[in-house]
Amino acid sequence: MKAIILVGGYGTRLRPLTLTVPKPMVEFGNQPMITHQIEALAEAGVTDIVLAVSYKAEVMENLLEEYKARFGINITCSKEEEPLGTAGPLKLAESVLKKDDSPFFVLNSDVICDYPFKDLIKFHQKHGAAGTIVATKVDEPSKYGVIVHDRDTPDLIDRFVEKPVEFVGNRINAGMYILNPSVLDLIELKPTSIEKETFPILVEQKQLYSFDLEGYWMDVGQPKDFLTGTCLFLSSLSRRKPEKMCNEKFVHQGNVLVDPSAKIHPNALIGPNVVIGPGVVIGDGARIQRSVILANSQVKDHAWVKSTIVGWNSTIGKWARTEGCTVLGDDVEIKNEIYVNGAKVLPHKSIGVNVEKESIIM
Ligand code: GDD
Ligand code: MG
Repeated sequence: MKAIILVGGYGTRLRPLTLTVPKPMVEFGNQPMITHQIEALAEAGVTDIVLAVSYKAEVMENLLEEYKARFGINITCSKEEEPLGTAGPLKLAESVLKKDDSPFFVLNSDVICDYPFKDLIKFHQKHGAAGTIVATKVDEPSKYGVIVHDRDTPDLIDRFVEKPVEFVGNRINAGMYILNPSVLDLIELKPTSIEKETFPILVEQKQLYSFDLEGYWMDVGQPKDFLTGTCLFLSSLSRRKPEKMCNEKFVHQGNVLVDPSAKIHPNALIGPNVVIGPGVVIGDGARIQRSVILANSQVKDHAWVKSTIVGWNSTIGKWARTEGCTVLGDDVEIKNEIYVNGAKVLPHKSIGVNVEKESIIM
């Protein structure tokens, strides 16, 4: 089987992290976001994966060899001269996606869940139509593509509305599809939106079904959702693979994932819902909850870090306090005793005065 992962897009909503690293490469649960997807695709029997890239292609290419060796699959980059949206890249990769008659998976690179690929194949084969969209239910459907079902045929989609202004329903497109190669004949090689241009045609032809996802789901393409998604991912991981979770003395209430190379003072208090990356150093009495600390950062003694994403190579000073969905870019310093609430701090900045309200520090 084959798959294409849409890894283009500028990831602007996940700045300042995406100023340094493309969105699919930002570490989620201590692995680049797309690694989770590639792992799940390989497990479901996918042998050919195309990464559809529209910018920063070099960064992705460096990883291809690693993925080939690690997962034993063919993996290639398909580079766009100009961003081709969410459908154009499928046409560009037609030679791979049409190399046999089997259907192919399409994934948005920023969605996390317990990927249901094997069940999805079975479901798709059973209804026999051209496409299946994975669906989930959310409280705020206006940020997503909304699916409305046909009254008479179970799971057949009757309407697909991308980012609706008015409420149409709360079952949404989870950003994962399985499509027959014939769908490629509906797409032209130009910037095209699969949600706005291709799905409506398939709906009209009664060729698009939806498959309800079980368990958690999140689009982690913005900081608030990245943190919520991290909590959901950690709860799921501690149920599925409890041996991966940290249970040292400094863990408080569980769901803590720590890279083995991190150094954590035994008097720190970490958790619940914390991810600590490689090379991180956590000081005496530091308190961390509901946060992600990316590679090679430091949280000094007695700092309190809550609902924060600490970008790579950053430092949070002694007795400093961060919260309110604060995001630090690469190489940021928060000085001793400083309070930061809801700030997005661009790379290479040093913060020496309190930031009390949501703001962007450039
Ligand atoms: N190759 C390539 N080229 N990829 C692109 C391009 C492009 O020009 N533009 C966007 N992408 C990729 C993004 O990297 C992401 O993986 C995916 O396409 C979707 O783009 P987002 O920008 O994340 O879209 P969204 O989150 O607003 O909405 C989409 O995802 C929702 C689920 O999370 C839509 O598919 C919605 O219908 C869906 O509900
Ligand atoms: Mg998204």
